[in-house]
Amino acid sequence: MFYITTAIDYTNGSPHIGHAYEKVLADVLARWHRMQGEEVYLLTGVDQHGQKVQQSAEKAGVSPQEYANEVTAQFIALWKRLGISYDGWAATTDPRHERCVQRILMELKERGLLYKKSYTGFYSVRQEQFLTDKERREGGDFGPEWGDVIELEEENWYFRLTDQAEWLKGFVEKSSSFVLPNFRKQELLYAIERAFDNDLCISRPKERLSWGIPLPFDPNFVTYVWFDALINYISFAGYLAEEGSALPRFEKLWPAACEVIGKDILVPAHGIYWPAMLHAIGLPDEDMPGLLVHGWWNLKGSKMSKTLGNIVDPNELADKFGVEALRYYLVRDIKTGHDADFDPDRLVMLYNTELANDLGNLCNRSLNMCMKYSGGIVSAPEGDDELSSELRLSLSKMESSFSDAMNQAQVSEALAALNAHVKACNSYIEQKQPWALAKSPEKKSELDRALGHLLESCAHAAFLLGCVLPDASSRMLTQLDAARLLQDKTPDSLAWGILPAGHSVHAPAPVFPRILSEEEKARSAAKMAGRRK
Ligand code: ME8
Ligand code: MG
Repeated sequence: MFYITTAIDYTNGSPHIGHAYEKVLADVLARWHRMQGEEVYLLTGVDQHGQKVQQSAEKAGVSPQEYANEVTAQFIALWKRLGISYDGWAATTDPRHERCVQRILMELKERGLLYKKSYTGFYSVRQEQFLTDKERREGGDFGPEWGDVIELEEENWYFRLTDQAEWLKGFVEKSSSFVLPNFRKQELLYAIERAFDNDLCISRPKERLSWGIPLPFDPNFVTYVWFDALINYISFAGYLAEEGSALPRFEKLWPAACEVIGKDILVPAHGIYWPAMLHAIGLPDEDMPGLLVHGWWNLKGSKMSKTLGNIVDPNELADKFGVEALRYYLVRDIKTGHDADFDPDRLVMLYNTELANDLGNLCNRSLNMCMKYSGGIVSAPEGDDELSSELRLSLSKMESSFSDAMNQAQVSEALAALNAHVKACNSYIEQKQPWALAKSPEKKSELDRALGHLLESCAHAAFLLGCVLPDASSRMLTQLDAARLLQDKTPDSLAWGILPAGHSVHAPAPVFPRILSEEEKARSAAKMAGRRK
């Protein structure tokens, strides 16, 4: 069982490419594990409560629920468009989730892990939050971005986070799989050293924030949005679910959990609050989830943000370049764990080079030549020549690199390995020159072997690409008529000989039409107009 979840997206604004990246990454990993024959459950969803949603709703003049619903619909439409194959949908206003959060709160309270206290501090009216020394400027005051800062006394409920410090430190230190990549673990350990001066405030007074899950034991308060949101990973996995609920069985999913999150929400939410909460409700160390922490897509070296107005809209990119180019780019041009710079020119370049030119052409030419020289029938003559055996070796090397990289969530590396083999196939065509072999009848078996090797490689490549570009993969496999031959195959059980002797293929149709630049489009339009005259 492989239970993979993503961060749930805030419904305080429209989806951007950072959101799209995380979901595509999780989808690719889910598809990869499904291909391996594992049972997979992919959960994603939306984080609908909290101050930011309440504020955006006020601005828009609608209720928080209406606002959250409207943004939620945008996320759902985008995931459908991008082909995100999720099995469960975590929306935090779902009554099943709210019930689970409230039961956890009751339980923690009964066990003395929650308490109420009064706190006096500096409060930003504009940002509606308490400020700490961290928010002070060099001179010691609070900057103008906070607006009016007043002293405020407020009662709230607290979770005994400090009780968990000792355990958490030991747990993170000895665990080798809690946080990946490893440099994030170091970052987390460093943060843990300094994080435990205070307990965690888990409530907000209703008069200040009404859009949240009410505390079951104190109706004047709602639950702090992070405490609510983190619980989605277990509530939608069936934790404390009611008898007969349609949710999965917790015991089945949970121990295999992998949470895909961005680097900004490791500290303190997922790296400190979350394991502390899980430990407090009684989960043993071996049931702590794994955190796969990815980096950020930036724009020209700076952070994308609503305030800077430099948000990239995934729908616009899909309109302009197509879903497959977008999916490919989002996992191809970033090393998992690290940041990358979003560049639409590179999106076009990588699609045109690796998909349109390299892979698209390979399949197209191989199928075409097979139609033309062998009536579309693959034959597998005995024996091998040097170039052909090199090509087989290149294929098997590619497959083990692809698999190793994917098992470590390094999608870009896997795709680079795939592309290297595709390029090797294209040079094999140049060296073998099947069109020349076709001219001499005594070279028939060398020709058949060359075409057989090429089509075999196409079938393997199309199959593996299925975890990244499922639609393109199935179009390629249809042309090769190989889908049924690969039905029961897993990447690890792929061996030479998928296409048996006598197998017939179909005529090719372009799978990756080139993306034309504005200039190229104008030139080809002018040409067409010229022809019409
Ligand atoms: O943080 N590049 O929601 P969110 C890559 N609701 N990833 C990015 C990104 C970027 N430019 N910008 C954001 C939240 N992300 C909470 C999570 S989980 C219990 C609650 C990632 O909508 C970000 O790191 O701000 C996070 O993993 C996800 O998108 C949702 O961000
Ligand atoms: Mg965020």
